Amino acid sequence: MKRVVVLSGAGISAESGIKTFRDAGGLWEEHDIMEVASYEGWKKNPELVIRFYNARRKQLFEVEPNKAHLDLVKLEKKYHVDIVTQNVDDLHERAGSTHILHLHGELKKVRSTLDEKLIYELSKENCEIQIGDTCEKGSQLRPHIVWFGESVPMIAEAVKLTELCDIFIVIGTSLNVYPAASLLNYTPYNAQKYIIDPHDTPVFGVKNLKKIMTKATEGVAIVVEELLKSA
Ligand code: APR
Repeated sequence: MKRVVVLSGAGISAESGIKTFRDAGGLWEEHDIMEVASYEGWKKNPELVIRFYNARRKQLFEVEPNKAHLDLVKLEKKYHVDIVTQNVDDLHERAGSTHILHLHGELKKVRSTLDEKLIYELSKENCEIQIGDTCEKGSQLRPHIVWFGESVPMIAEAVKLTELCDIFIVIGTSLNVYPAASLLNYTPYNAQKYIIDPHDTPVFGVKNLKKIMTKATEGVAIVVEELLKSA
């Protein structure tokens, strides 16, 4: 089976009602990144950080995967598909994708500040944490998110998958944040690459690249139909 790697960003979840970060009205317009999404911000004002992620987690339980997430699952009939996502939502999981790698963490999970292997999944009924909520070893719980300035533990695995792929599909990411954005450079020369994004993402020197300048639900349908036909 040919191998497909999908690199998804906030744009694939936009049509599910989740704000992106850098579009007009995006999350980084409303919040100072370093205050709510960095380790320094956590040390300075953990209540603010906890409130920021509690609010996003609460919303995540109210939204659903959209057609773009669902169409990607159809590809699994004829391809081995690895979803490498920058998103911390679980919409790819809920859509039914079976191989998902979260580069920037998972919003529905929290972890111990003492032992990062102690990870806990929150539920709709119990979707918030507070200061004073601790892990089984008694240390404060924190969002299971990769903050700016923290290492991206899954990037090596993501690079390995990218180097092996026959097809690489970038969906809804401004390619602003590294190391995620560097994955495009690890794609094999002959791999077919697609970028699905209504805005023209500045990408240079990438061979065999097709830009589909539509929103995700339209562009993913086009690419999935093309790939299922040519499988
Ligand atoms: N369909 C497809 N793409 C869309 C849509 C849509 N309906 N709406 C917006 N987009 C595109 C925008 O044009 C933009 O290129 O999605 C991209 C969103 O870019 P960002 O907001 O920068 O989100 P992302 O690239 O995922 O950010 C990467 O930055 O802040 C950190 O950790 C955070 O994972 C995030 C990382």
